[in-house]
Amino acid sequence: MALQIFLTTGHYLCSMSKEIVVSGIRSTGHLHLGNYFGAIQNYVKMQDAYECYFFVADYHSLTTHPDPKDLKANVFHVLAENIASGLDPNKVALYAQSDIPEIPELYLMLNMMAYVGELEKVPTFKDKVRQQPDNVNAGLLTYPVLMTADILIQKAVKVPVGKDQEQHLEMARNFAQRFNSRYGDFFPEPQVFRFNNDAVKIMSLDGNGKMSKSENVNATIYLSDDDDIIKKKIMKAKTDAGPTEPNAVMPDYIQNLFLLMSLCSKPETVDIYRNNYNNCTIRYGDMKKQLAEDMAAFVHPIREHAWELQKDEALMRKILKEGAEKARIGASKTMAGARKLIGINYY
Ligand code: ADP
Ligand code: TRP
Repeated sequence: MALQIFLTTGHYLCSMSKEIVVSGIRSTGHLHLGNYFGAIQNYVKMQDAYECYFFVADYHSLTTHPDPKDLKANVFHVLAENIASGLDPNKVALYAQSDIPEIPELYLMLNMMAYVGELEKVPTFKDKVRQQPDNVNAGLLTYPVLMTADILIQKAVKVPVGKDQEQHLEMARNFAQRFNSRYGDFFPEPQVFRFNNDAVKIMSLDGNGKMSKSENVNATIYLSDDDDIIKKKIMKAKTDAGPTEPNAVMPDYIQNLFLLMSLCSKPETVDIYRNNYNNCTIRYGDMKKQLAEDMAAFVHPIREHAWELQKDEALMRKILKEGAEKARIGASKTMAGARKLIGINYY
């Protein structure tokens, strides 16, 4: 959005454009602490200084064939939990991917430039082939192309995402370059964005991989979990018998508990337990009790606010509609330009 300053005489003084930011979250269930600390916290920090487009990636969620009955509630969960975490719909465009028809149109064009061989090599695709061998659909294979369309449709330059999405962003840059070299300079090359270059990755509480919406629900803390559930899940988090020598290297599941503590508790609290760890006096039961209490206090206001928002369907629909209207302004301009460059320009 161009911010223009006019003198009282109406003369143009200077013009400043905010950089364009795009990011999306799949509507596959309630959001969790990984989404919050890996992505949403950055969105909230960016909303004043950038022109932001944040969307619910509902088309992306179709790769796993969700029950049609669940789709709307899942979209509303993601929307409400983003707002409850601090996103202001008056500052950013918040919308559903499926409300922007220009996205699938650009996706189709980019698919002509994406090679099957390179898509087959993407680690997230290989993981999915392993996880769901009976449903290796073409949507899974072209997932990074759709993601590229989400980003390029707004000509975004910055994309706040967690570490797990870096490879997808690299592909988005490749596809942008390929389009530009074939048809002329048109798309900027989007970069991953993080404050202080800090990539937060929250592991699952069972120590198996990253915390994720649809993996082990008992090892994932959702923003919709109530205080008791949070306490139960934290108390069951993986630990061990404790360090046997001073200043021992922490196993990753213990590091994860300390990371969560540093995000939810006071720095003094973290220091106490870190010292206890370093001098081998740590009692994980006590640490988990403290962490559970601080985490419950952290999640509580987000959960309550999201709950209130979701009950107001008219408000949810209004926010999505206005967000889509904002997003379609840039999207239709981009598509007009891309069609012309490709030669779809007959009338
Ligand atoms: P999920 O994998 O839970 O379904 P998404 O794929 O929709 O979540 O991811 C939405 C955003 O949240 C992305 O920017 C992603 O990098 C980030 N994210 C997801 N899980 C984690 C995690 N465990 N730690 C840090 N960031 C995460
Ligand atoms: N692929 C992302 C994820 O799984 C979600 C996503 C879809 C996205 N389109 C995007 C993220 C565009 C950033 C930009 O987390």
